[in-house]
Amino acid sequence: MLALSSVAAALLLLGAVTIHAATKVSEADFGKMPDGTLVKIFTLTNEHGLEARICTYGGVVVSLKTPDKTGQMADIVQGFDSLEGYLNPAEPYFGALIGRYGNRIGHAKFTLDGKVYNLPANDGVNTLHGGPKGFDKAVWTPRQLADGGVELTYTSKDGEEGFPGNLKATVAYHLTAADELKIDYSATTDKDTVVNLTNHSYWNLKGAGNGTILDHLLTIHASKFTPVDSGLIPTGELKPVAGTPFDFTKPTAVGARIEQNDEQLKLGKGYDHNFILDRSGAGLSLAARVEEPATGRVMEVDTTEPAVQFYTGNFLDGTLKGKGGHVYPRRAALCLETQHYPDSPNKPAFPTTELKPGQTYKTTTVYRFSVKK
Ligand code: GLA
Repeated sequence: MLALSSVAAALLLLGAVTIHAATKVSEADFGKMPDGTLVKIFTLTNEHGLEARICTYGGVVVSLKTPDKTGQMADIVQGFDSLEGYLNPAEPYFGALIGRYGNRIGHAKFTLDGKVYNLPANDGVNTLHGGPKGFDKAVWTPRQLADGGVELTYTSKDGEEGFPGNLKATVAYHLTAADELKIDYSATTDKDTVVNLTNHSYWNLKGAGNGTILDHLLTIHASKFTPVDSGLIPTGELKPVAGTPFDFTKPTAVGARIEQNDEQLKLGKGYDHNFILDRSGAGLSLAARVEEPATGRVMEVDTTEPAVQFYTGNFLDGTLKGKGGHVYPRRAALCLETQHYPDSPNKPAFPTTELKPGQTYKTTTVYRFSVKK
């Protein structure tokens, strides 16, 4: 009995050591904020050599290197070599954590428990991605986890960017042995509030800075999407994708229909829409798959969220100078922002984004990388 339990204990210990050793984490300084606050950058390297770099400013995924079918590594997210690039006010959320409310809230206001909350508008008359100083512009407090992950915490004060309640948000990044970037989001509040957290990485599986994503083959497991008005606010309709350019239920090149004469594509200047996932059960469910034919790189996205914003970099214009001198023209990358539906606080029929004291907001999204030979 004693012998058995020591063997079990030894195995357990071995297991713990193995998990710990699998992904290596190192920490360095990334720069300073204008007020002198130090920004750190963490490098996570898994046993297959995949490497993710994450900084404490905005919890940004600064780079992510994965192999192609010949084993050649490339950085597949858009971004900048140094902190200064991310501090540019024209910077469109490259790799950042988005909160308190990802995507749009119509007319920069919502009603909760009978009270109207007015928010700062930063996208025409609407509030986008938590407002002008969203979670993407905060310096998060980091903690290395014993299992090889990095946890970031940010407490958004009651009234910050117009939202009620002190909201403590925690995001854990892991680069797993299964070649996944796993993002676990959690949050608690001390007053009723609304929450919708996501990550805004801009992907190009050829390697960021190497042309557009129009030839990437995309599958989204969504048979409906939420059409929008001219301010990209959902009209409230849940529209079947069948027979429209929004049908990605079978692998289709992103660019195959993007220029079609379709009202929704015109409003979005391409794809910039919320797809409602055909989920299986309550846990992680496969949301999307992206394949880049030339390099063979494949990315699958699993999420616990009910929807995903598919955005084709329609507002990129090649004016930002990114990593290694690369510029990022229109459609140079795509985003798959797992989320609740935009404008849910004003749309009672949509799944709720309310969080109350005593409840814990918890979601997980996994980006899994492989190659097709
Ligand atoms: C999201 C929005 C887009 C755009 C980008 C950032 O994807 O839906 O309309 O604002 O963020 O530029």
